Amino acid sequence: MADVNRVGTGTASRQRRRRSEAGTKMTPVPFTDLAAMAGEVWPSVERDYLACLLGAAYIGGPAVTSFEEEWAAYCGADYAVGVANGTDALELTLTALGIGRGDEVVVPANTFIATAAAVVRAGADPRFADVSDDTLLITPGTLTEAITPRTRAVIVVHLFGQVPDMAGILDVAAKMGICVIEDAAQAHGAEWDGRRAGSFGDAACFSFYPAKNLGAFGDGGAVVTSQADLADRVRTLANHGRSHGASHYEHTYVGTNSRLDTLQAVLLSGKLAFLDAWTQRRIVLAARYREVLSGTGLRHTGVASQARHAYHLFVVRVAGRDAVRVELARRGIESGVHYPVPCHWQPPLRRFADRPLPATEQAAGELLSLPMFPHLTDCQVDFVGEALSDILQGMTVDPEFIDVQ
Ligand SMILES: Cc1ncc(COP(=O)(O)O)c(C=O)c1O
Repeated sequence: MADVNRVGTGTASRQRRRRSEAGTKMTPVPFTDLAAMAGEVWPSVERDYLACLLGAAYIGGPAVTSFEEEWAAYCGADYAVGVANGTDALELTLTALGIGRGDEVVVPANTFIATAAAVVRAGADPRFADVSDDTLLITPGTLTEAITPRTRAVIVVHLFGQVPDMAGILDVAAKMGICVIEDAAQAHGAEWDGRRAGSFGDAACFSFYPAKNLGAFGDGGAVVTSQADLADRVRTLANHGRSHGASHYEHTYVGTNSRLDTLQAVLLSGKLAFLDAWTQRRIVLAARYREVLSGTGLRHTGVASQARHAYHLFVVRVAGRDAVRVELARRGIESGVHYPVPCHWQPPLRRFADRPLPATEQAAGELLSLPMFPHLTDCQVDFVGEALSDILQGMTVDPEFIDVQ
């Protein structure tokens, strides 16, 4: 095991310490920079945003419709329904598919809790699947293992921005007669075999939470699908159960209030014009991280040749993770952990944990997310990469325990 107390004793560390002693100011590296993205987009949306704000156009209207059309087209699907957040997108999709009490939905356990919580809130039971130790994504094999006679659907999570082997997963789902829902909250613009996230499943659920690759000035989400009746049911459920064309006080179902605000739609339309360039920049930054970290013995893992990774997060795996984070923070570098506790170990979901999930459980103690956002500079990546290399040198970590993804 690594000696986690021996950190930061390498040559680079000594050099930096000398620089800092000589009075060089250390610039902090944030985990993300939402203000930089807002600043870049604002000039192109200012006029429409203010017109909407001052014209009191707050709910629905042409701005929402036009963002929905743009987003569906971008994803390669026929319909998008704007909703209040990604969690609602998942719950509404399950309900609209008729999935509820007595049903089981396969979900990976290494995801944000919203994926599994949506299943419980829809009235069904999550059935946790393990993931590939290499990509940390669900595979056709781990999906097959998890399916039982009660399984009605799988929620495939495009974790960190990578779409898993969708050809294999769709094949298993078709054979077993279950629905496929993509949790694409982290995967705007990601691709598998040239097809975009959002175009594979019966439906795909997106989050526009501010820190996402396409983020709003608050919460937002969308359900994307090419099934007209499914899109219609989601829209009805999200709008107090009002069917298409019904008057304000006519309700077909007991629904809820989960709509994408008009102001958010205006901003998201503006940001969409930047998404491809921002994703490309994330890809370049990820390649640079790998290069800077390549001398450390870190093992690169898990980007399939068919995948275009959108790098919502850049995640490395390292033993002694918590000590490494402390040392990074001491050098002014923010980091994150996605996710320290897998869903099947979360207290409200433990009752659904029926077997060990070795790859998921092993990863949970090692995952470390490094700063990743389009406005991160090359110098900042070099600084983070060199700091990490330096810290690891001091830790004498067995390279077998370290993984870069
Ligand atoms: C994988 C995943 N699923 C679902 C969600 C939920 O999205 P929201 O925060 O918009 O409800 C998130 C957001 O963090 C997520 O990362």
